[in-house]
Amino acid sequence: MTDSPSFASLPPGALPVQATLREALAAMTQAGLPALEARMLLTHVTGLSRTQLITRDTQPLDAGQHGRLLTLLNRRLAGEPMAYLVGEREFYGRPFRVSPAVLIPRPDTEIAVQAALARLAGTQAPRVLDLGTGSGILAVTLACERPDAQVWATDISPAALDMARANAAALGADNIRFLESDWYAALPTEARFALIVSNPPYIAAGDPHLSSGDLRFEPVDALTDHGDGLSDLATIVAGAGAHLEEGGWLLMEHGFDQGGAARQLLRDAGFADVFTERDLGGNERCSGGRWPGGKAGVQGPTAGSEP
Ligand SMILES: C[S@@+](CC[C@H](N)C(=O)[O-])C[C@H]1O[C@@H](n2cnc3c(N)ncnc32)[C@H](O)[C@@H]1O
Repeated sequence: MTDSPSFASLPPGALPVQATLREALAAMTQAGLPALEARMLLTHVTGLSRTQLITRDTQPLDAGQHGRLLTLLNRRLAGEPMAYLVGEREFYGRPFRVSPAVLIPRPDTEIAVQAALARLAGTQAPRVLDLGTGSGILAVTLACERPDAQVWATDISPAALDMARANAAALGADNIRFLESDWYAALPTEARFALIVSNPPYIAAGDPHLSSGDLRFEPVDALTDHGDGLSDLATIVAGAGAHLEEGGWLLMEHGFDQGGAARQLLRDAGFADVFTERDLGGNERCSGGRWPGGKAGVQGPTAGSEP
């Protein structure tokens, strides 16, 4: 959750038509934009590289570039996230297209990728399900990291699925099936997976974070379950057994204070080897467990943490 940036407003005439790149950069930083963001907006509207911004800094903006830059600058000054303005955010070393139809990828979600890859190590052609794929970061990253996997990705939002499909195509992930579905509802009843991963909405209704910072601009149905924050996690746990291979894993991202509740849900549903991974800030961030039975080729890492 990032706090809303606080910017000065752009003084009238601060960014004149035909301003040079150097003058435009100065006007944006004087308005309070960090230099990195100012350069990102300039490279976005001009198509120049960061090096070219320096070597051609006396070049004037053309009328189209000036208009687009002014619009983006004013949207940024109003607090809109950079990722939506430039239409892209990096995740696990790959560029993902984003729009206000999808959640902006968070670095914390890379914990779920690492946990998933560790549990898929040693498997061959594993079947993987990403529930609530959004921009597709989990499904596409796992499909790229494990090209032998057969990945399914679901979302209830057709617009999110369109974005996920576009990202899969752009990143060459051709081993993914996309499905519009309310969690497991549209999956074939016989579909079984070695691993189910999800980053579901887990912010409780009425949480003040929903009306501050970047979250004001993100799709509300991607952020909150409109309940206590645990209802989608509970639905995902309750339905997982019917779609996991024996010995398969369920992994879920959750809020920093939801680790205990997530582990309880998993244990109550009959999961074994329940664990929680912490994010880089030391917060409990991703919990999971193994569906019992069988000797499926899905092995867990030996050093798991089970608080
Ligand atoms: C927190 S976002 C995560 C998006 C993406 N996986 C990521 O990590 O950036 C949750 C996603 O779940 C989807 N979602 C919400 N309710 C759903 C439901 N009932 N069934 C399937 N997907 C749902 C939302 O549309 C959203 O894309």
